[in-house]
Amino acid sequence: MGWPVMHSRSPALHEFLLKQHGLYGAYVPLAIEPGRLEAALRALPALCFAGCNLTIPHKEAAMEIVDEIDDAARAIGAISCVTVGDDGRLSGTNNDWFGYVEGVLEVYPDWRADAGPIVVIGAGGGSRAIVYAMVRQGAREIRLVNRTRDRAEALAHDIGGPVTVVDWDARGDALEGAAMLINTTSQGMVGNPPLDLDLAPLPKDALVSDIVYVPAETPLLEAADRRGNPTVRGLGMLLHQARPAWRSWFGIDVSVTPELRATIEATL
Ligand code: ATR
Repeated sequence: MGWPVMHSRSPALHEFLLKQHGLYGAYVPLAIEPGRLEAALRALPALCFAGCNLTIPHKEAAMEIVDEIDDAARAIGAISCVTVGDDGRLSGTNNDWFGYVEGVLEVYPDWRADAGPIVVIGAGGGSRAIVYAMVRQGAREIRLVNRTRDRAEALAHDIGGPVTVVDWDARGDALEGAAMLINTTSQGMVGNPPLDLDLAPLPKDALVSDIVYVPAETPLLEAADRRGNPTVRGLGMLLHQARPAWRSWFGIDVSVTPELRATIEATL
């Protein structure tokens, strides 16, 4: 469920998995107007849905609607996945943080959040899941940079952990000595300008990642690649968040295979 929703790659992802596991069913994009989220979610049990994912702008609003919210969704302040119980109750969770961590580990299995300072750019919905993920994975220093400082302050307050808010104008300095850089803003996404960030102060061995996955390689990742930094693309986060969703909807453990990745990459 989203508004808009037709850009979503989730139908292609879950249709692939349904076919692979021989399940009779469908994953459909549901364009739900913001004011009608509650009616739409409450219709799920009657329509025999196992659950749904939520995307912009419904993730926060769903917090007031579902019957149960787990710790991750509560800490992040947003629900990415809803499961319909046998009794028709709706439980909400957030699998974005898990998807991000697993997406990094798929590429760098030895990655650790406590390897050094982590710079997170952006303080929107995506950033909340990322900062939560880094805190949960044991990060010792997170430098949070956002154009609007107040939003970063609020995020740091809500999530807690070793987060230091850095002014937008000091974003270059924040890169000094960093072990990891994560873009969570919409900058670099198709149709948007690249992220305005000079990588010169960033150590050459710092891991650079982007949660934007259209295009697959953002200008930030291209720039990082050119100077020899290791990089992680954004698609892994989308692919891996499907794993806990399948576990809670169907009790099935799915994996992110090269075929699945190639199928979704072909749609980007
Ligand atoms: P999402 O839920 O996808 O994270 P969002 O909540 O709208 O989307 O957040 C978008 C993020 O991109 C924010 O951190 C935003 O910064 P502000 O809080 O200052 O708005 C950031 N962003 C958007 N346009 C930007 C720009 N031109 N330069 C820098 N940051 C930008």
